[in-house]
Amino acid sequence: MNLILLGPPGAGKGTQSKYLVDQHALVQVSTGDMLREARKNQTELGKKAEAFMRAGKLVPDEVVIGLVEERLSLADCKNGFVLDGFPRTVAQAEELSVLLEKKQKKIQMVLSIEVADDELVSRLSGRRVCKECGRTYHSLFSKPIVQGICDKCGGVVIQRDDDREETIRQRLRVYNEQTYPLISFYKERGMLRTVSGIGDIASISRAIDALLQGTA
Ligand code: AP5
Repeated sequence: MNLILLGPPGAGKGTQSKYLVDQHALVQVSTGDMLREARKNQTELGKKAEAFMRAGKLVPDEVVIGLVEERLSLADCKNGFVLDGFPRTVAQAEELSVLLEKKQKKIQMVLSIEVADDELVSRLSGRRVCKECGRTYHSLFSKPIVQGICDKCGGVVIQRDDDREETIRQRLRVYNEQTYPLISFYKERGMLRTVSGIGDIASISRAIDALLQGTA
């Protein structure tokens, strides 16, 4: 099974991808994580992406498409993957269709996770992330036991540089202008299903499972 998770920044794409990895043995392909890794390692691609990400803008299509093409060619994607944060523009969606056709693969479902903007700002401005293992926390609702230290791996817990309120609002604008049109793109192709991203994380995972089993 191959899936796409759509949704604004903070909707819970990363959180639900982790569930799909654990419960459905899918591979998570997160362009955001791949770009952050490239930035951390200061590769040419990472340096190119840095200013766009800091400003809450999209990294140019050709950079991201190349990255995804390479990632989907790896053997671990053979048995199913979940695309988290890709595609994000109509041009990326069109390129993805061409790429999958070449590989004789299909996307079974595009899941759109819906959350209102005010909730997204509060989630993201409080989000804290472990620099080492990527586990997420919230500064008010889900703090690590020892402040600034990850419960899971002992790594340093930081705020992402694009999780500041002004940049979050810019990311939401970019989502509405450049990514939201993908809802119609996939609806017209009969691939889109929507799920509310409000409520506890486990109940959203159950709603996703129901859609995957064709019972919702
Ligand atoms: P990316 O890393 O993809 O960021 P994003 O889409 O903005 O998504 P987030 O990671 O912020 O949110 P999420 O939906 O995954 O939510 P999460 O599960 O973490 O992209 C970053 C940047 O990279 C982009 O701005 C762009 O520059 C570049 N980029 C990436 N892909 C690109 C592409 N294809 N093309 C061009 N540029 C690209 O949850 C958020 C928080 O909410 C967490 O704290 C979590 O614990 C909490 N939470 C989750 N679910 C719930 C719930 N049900 N209730 C309460 N809290 C919840």
